[in-house]
Amino acid sequence: MRVLLTGAYGQLGRSLLDRVPAAWVLLACGSAELDITDRAAVERVVKKFRPDVILNAAAYTAVDKAETDRVRAMKVNAIGPENLALAARDVGARLIHISTDYVFDGSKKTPYLESDQPCPINFYGLSKWEGEKRVFAVLPQAIVIRTSWVFSEYGSNFVKTMLRLAATRTELSVVNDQVGCPTYAGDLAMAMIALASAEQAQGIYHYCGDVAVSWCEFAQAIFVVTQQDTVVKGISSGQYPTAAVRPLNSVMNCTRLQEAGVTPSDWQACLLLARLSLSSVFTPPEPGVKVLH
Ligand SMILES: NC(=O)c1ccc[n+]([C@@H]2O[C@H](COP(=O)([O-])OP(=O)(O)OC[C@H]3O[C@@H](n4cnc5c(N)ncnc54)[C@H](OP(=O)(O)O)[C@@H]3O)[C@@H](O)[C@H]2O)c1
Repeated sequence: MRVLLTGAYGQLGRSLLDRVPAAWVLLACGSAELDITDRAAVERVVKKFRPDVILNAAAYTAVDKAETDRVRAMKVNAIGPENLALAARDVGARLIHISTDYVFDGSKKTPYLESDQPCPINFYGLSKWEGEKRVFAVLPQAIVIRTSWVFSEYGSNFVKTMLRLAATRTELSVVNDQVGCPTYAGDLAMAMIALASAEQAQGIYHYCGDVAVSWCEFAQAIFVVTQQDTVVKGISSGQYPTAAVRPLNSVMNCTRLQEAGVTPSDWQACLLLARLSLSSVFTPPEPGVKVLH
């Protein structure tokens, strides 16, 4: 199977690179090799490589910065995926695109279903929802996986932030009124790999961790696993104002993907495993478009 991976050097992209089946012919492109907002470049690369599947791990993920950097956020999160969908349609490729729990406003009291109506309360969420709509308008048979609270050995994420802060502080205050499901990027990568081979799969799927927690409880779990006695004090969202408002309930129901044979991320076990390699250094390949297998 020929697979084009975009956003190859973000945390999800790197997690995919660690796990791609040896049988795949993979073209991995970071932002320097392929800017997904450049429609002509996307068309050129896709026409030349002729993938069977495009995996889009590229995104504008700076949630707070997106409130003021709106044009860029919309370009990367909505126009970029649309460009990929157009190019995929031209060559008959399938597209697996990633979206977010932040398309929802968090007012629901139970886990969000794929059929629930998005209603983003921050610009990042709005740009990601626009991306979903543009993808399906061009390619109704595309796959969009909504995920949440992603962590891994790579890039920036909550786990790494907590460990960095704990290196210099004995007590941390962390929000305890926002609840969601942490998701290990390696598990999300495996879910994408499974769907890449599932030819009948299409539409929206939710994929996240199996146990819902508040950010405060997530931080406490991180320090249990890493055997640190950092004290984590719970505070309300109101006591920790951010540029972007976050939904209070981010929990998503993953039954649809479970029925397709993909189990939710066992994030606590993954945290334990990731602990061993949190300091691992990733060396990106030399610049330039490369076929890895
Ligand atoms: N992280 C989370 O907690 C979270 C939660 C819910 C959903 N998601 C979704 O999960 C997916 C993966 O997120 P992640 O955590 O892996 O994000 P990430 O670590 O920020 O990686 C995103 C990657 O996209 C690349 N990129 C940005 N603009 C691009 C462009 N115009 N063309 C090509 N590549 C571009 C970035 O490259 P440069 O660094 O070179 O710009 C970066 O390598 C995204 O769709 C995100 O919205 C993430």
